[in-house]
Amino acid sequence: MVTVVANDAVLGATVDGLDLAQPLPDAAIETILTALASHGVLRFPNQDLSPAQQKAFACRFGSLEVNVANRNATGEHPEIMILSNMVDAAGKPLGLADAGQDWHTDMSYSATVALANVLFAIKVPHDDHGQPLGDTRFANMIAAYEALPTALKQRLDGATITHDFNLFWERMRARPGSNRQPLTPEQRAEKPPVSHPAVMVHPVSGAKVLYANPGYAACIDGWEKAESDAVLAFLFRHQLQDAFLYDHHWTEGDLMMWDNIATLHYAVADYGAHQHRMMQRCQVMADQVFAHPRFR
Ligand code: SIN
Repeated sequence: MVTVVANDAVLGATVDGLDLAQPLPDAAIETILTALASHGVLRFPNQDLSPAQQKAFACRFGSLEVNVANRNATGEHPEIMILSNMVDAAGKPLGLADAGQDWHTDMSYSATVALANVLFAIKVPHDDHGQPLGDTRFANMIAAYEALPTALKQRLDGATITHDFNLFWERMRARPGSNRQPLTPEQRAEKPPVSHPAVMVHPVSGAKVLYANPGYAACIDGWEKAESDAVLAFLFRHQLQDAFLYDHHWTEGDLMMWDNIATLHYAVADYGAHQHRMMQRCQVMADQVFAHPRFR
């Protein structure tokens, strides 16, 4: 039997009773989608998934993105991105070491936004006392929208925001020790800045979502720069209040699936090079859910 038990927090639920390595019936996919839209962040504990099995699960919800930073990945599964601080015997990185290490919403820079990040924990770093490190923090953008002042809700109604992939990329590159290269002209051309509504209607729940994030949101379209900067700065402070936050402490075998429309997240880099973290990620686009919205 499938059970969905909500966390005692502003986000999150644990889903038990499913082996995600096996093909799932449509009813289970619908249960997961509904739970995702209700709880924002889902934990499926004790999973064991090959890249092919993770893809087979994820693609039930929408098409899978090949990340623009992973376009040259060799191998059978370009939709799977390895996020890791580990290196091979020759010292070559096994994955992207600094993925997501600041607040952002995946793929908001994309013309089709993402529905969900599906992240499987293969290795979780721990401190000397056995406590897990490398949490992922989440922020609830339905709660953040609801708590906005009414006058600002009215001003944002109908407004659009430009999101730019290069913004977050350059911010990460500027960090000491970053080995990210500048985006190539081809990568920039593939992901040019795009505009999305500042307030999005969630295609599964119909809830209103504040769709702005400090990683990629560059400006409010058509507003004076000073005003756009001031309102974005306000929104970035507002949306990260403690009341909207939830921290996930990882256990190996966790598969986390989070709503990439209604949440922000942040990969906490509080572990050292000797404390190994390895995650296997795929990104589900929102093409399918926007083509068939669930709410009436
Ligand atoms: C991401 O932003 O996709 C990475 C999240 C994480 O590794 O915790």
